Amino acid sequence: MACLIIVGTQWGDEGKGKVVDLLTDRADAVVRYQGGNNAGHTVMFGNQTFILHMVPSGILRETTSILGNGVVIDLTAFVKEINELEQTGIDVEKHLRISDRAQLVMPWHKTIDRLREQQKGKSKIGTTGRGIGPAYEDKAGRAGIRVGDLLDQENFRNRLEEIVNDKNKILKQYFDADEASFSAEEIFSEYADYLKKLKPCIVDTPLLINQFVEDGKHILFEGAQGTFLDVDHGTYPFVTSSNTLSGNACVGSGIGPTRITGVLGIVKAYTTRVGSGPFPTELFDNDGKLLQSEGNEFGATTGRPRRCGWFDALLVRQAVRLNGITSLAVTKLDVLDKFDTLKIAVAYRKSNGEECENFPGSLENVSPVYHEMPGWKCSTAGIVEYDKLPSEMLAYLEKISELVAAPVSVISTGPKREETIVLNPDQFWD
Ligand code: GDP
Ligand code: IMO
Ligand code: MG
Repeated sequence: MACLIIVGTQWGDEGKGKVVDLLTDRADAVVRYQGGNNAGHTVMFGNQTFILHMVPSGILRETTSILGNGVVIDLTAFVKEINELEQTGIDVEKHLRISDRAQLVMPWHKTIDRLREQQKGKSKIGTTGRGIGPAYEDKAGRAGIRVGDLLDQENFRNRLEEIVNDKNKILKQYFDADEASFSAEEIFSEYADYLKKLKPCIVDTPLLINQFVEDGKHILFEGAQGTFLDVDHGTYPFVTSSNTLSGNACVGSGIGPTRITGVLGIVKAYTTRVGSGPFPTELFDNDGKLLQSEGNEFGATTGRPRRCGWFDALLVRQAVRLNGITSLAVTKLDVLDKFDTLKIAVAYRKSNGEECENFPGSLENVSPVYHEMPGWKCSTAGIVEYDKLPSEMLAYLEKISELVAAPVSVISTGPKREETIVLNPDQFWD
């Protein structure tokens, strides 16, 4: 039996989708436990590229793919994603299971997300505009609609009328937004169609997942976003609205912490961030441009260019602590092929000149102190044999591992499934 959590250690887009897909070859189920279609998980094999936003990456290998109670689902986007997957020949309905307790992202959540960002102007969060914050607010405010609520159509219609009235008032009076007047009738009929399609997939997922555990099966928990977008531990307020840490895999899927057998931290060989917020190792020079172009750093969900910078060991060391990471998958090493010198932040200098080696409560006015290492200056793209990796890359990996206090178990040298070195593959499944 294995319950392995896969979690991002930076600000998202570390390559979680690729690693989940890779490890799914031995998994019996893959579970998403938080977030929504703000995620964009890229999986490439053969000549095919998939970007999954909501459906767990396990679906590409036709493995049981579960949306746990902790996710928020925009049914319009979700059904579109399912249809697109079905067009490629994947039998989604057969393998997908959806929690009756998952929350819905409703149309007004997206409108409020957008209007709020507009109001904030320069101080905006830079959200994905997918309505994630407003949906989690309504969940915590006990005013959300859950997937299971759709099953009782009469009750759903009544609640919808009440909520639509309320939201229309808020939009008009608070946001002064006339264009956003929602019709309960239209939404009801649209959602009746979604229900028709999804009904066979809606189940009691905690029961299902615990059954898998009791049967000794292998389960992957596919984290979305990254450690520093966590609403408690991230760079607040420039965060998402869910707990992205491994601890939330238990709450968001309905299993106990005693079931977890490992936590694999996904880490990019450098750092990127989409949206606003502090980023101490961010580069604005040619090195930053080179990371951007070599790494093709554009958001998988919104297409926005990702901000790029050097590897930050304080950040990842903190992620190892917060998530209880047992080993690391290091991705995008090939992106560093052309650099003469590589830099790793090993401390921050504060404005009063003091240095700190542990991640501080605030990233305001800190500048990184760098350790420099020689680059390998040769093509490593697609190398799949450990012995063929250049000695400078091995030294870089060893330094990262020492600084963040976690062993490396996966090395990724390209975007494709097969461009990966897994050290001792059995370790995840014992
Ligand atoms: P996720 O959100 O964590 O799943 O990551 P994204 O899919 O948003 O972003 C990661 C990007 O890097 C995708 O375009 C992947 O195809 C790509 N990628 C993943 N691993 C590697 C790698 O080792 N090398 C290169 N060059 N690209 C990679
Ligand atoms: P994956 O799973 C990178 C960022 C947004 C914004 C902040 C809040 O692909 O790694 P939200 O729409 O969640 O309210 O936006 O969080 N963000 C991500 N950045 N990868 C993601 O997901 C992200 N999901 C949200 O850019 O800064
Ligand atoms: Mg992504």
